[in-house]
Amino acid sequence: MLYSALINVMVKAARRAGRSLKRDLGEIEHLQVSLKGPANFVSLADKRAEEMLYTDLEKARPGYGFLGEEGGKREGSDKSHTWIVDPLDGTTNFLHGIPQFAISIGLLREDTVIAGVIYNPANDELYIAERGKGAFLNDQRLRVAGRRQLNECVVGCGLPHIGRGNHQLALQEMAALQSKVAGFRRFGAASLDLAFVAAGRLDGYWERNLQAWDVAAGLLMVREAGGTVSGIQGNDDPLQTGHVVCGNEFVHGELIKIVKPLGQ
Ligand code: IPD
Ligand code: CA
Ligand code: CA
Ligand code: CA
Repeated sequence: MLYSALINVMVKAARRAGRSLKRDLGEIEHLQVSLKGPANFVSLADKRAEEMLYTDLEKARPGYGFLGEEGGKREGSDKSHTWIVDPLDGTTNFLHGIPQFAISIGLLREDTVIAGVIYNPANDELYIAERGKGAFLNDQRLRVAGRRQLNECVVGCGLPHIGRGNHQLALQEMAALQSKVAGFRRFGAASLDLAFVAAGRLDGYWERNLQAWDVAAGLLMVREAGGTVSGIQGNDDPLQTGHVVCGNEFVHGELIKIVKPLGQ
């Protein structure tokens, strides 16, 4: 497949950082794991990958701003473009050798995500999306699942770990949905949860208290695959609120009906 120059830059950066993560996966015991808060792990693998991504993206597009989970915000001279980067989404999975983790790169122009790349180096699955041009997994065009019966749907979710979010609320939401869906999945990497919705593997997904780097690329992926994405209110922006609900238009609507009243 012929990528645009922009997607090429993002894919090359993601693949190089992906090789670094794969090397590090083989040497987990040397990764100097530390805690940013309760159960909030960071390792040398996250930091190394972020530095590589910064170096490559800055070289290809000098002056763009850069927001990364580990290094925070680095201002650029170009105030209208910002990379939003999670160098290792799914650190807990990674540190347990569970091959469900990814590099997530979104590009923001003003307030709009215009391109996204999500790459899982463990299985070499590469998701790309460009605004108005569709979403692809390893060159295969993506389309969200079409199911319109909630009792046939498999829905992904996130559960807050120790020290984060509202545990009671998360359980209430799951309890309310339990009797209505065919199944729940909790995979542990928000960017891939969104990519799975885009790919039609999950019918829907919701999670509260995420960060811009978890969702920037994935939001675009779902939208470009024909899905609907919002915050918990149904018309708010997950990039602003950190809460996300998505699926096809029907599933999105049904999820909102169930989770919105609980969080009021
Ligand atoms: C985490 C993952 C996880 C989600 C957490 C995130 P990290 O990101 O996306 O699925 O439930 O809220 O913080 O810390 O592994 O990059
Ligand atoms: Ca983290
Ligand atoms: Ca993350
Ligand atoms: Ca991360």
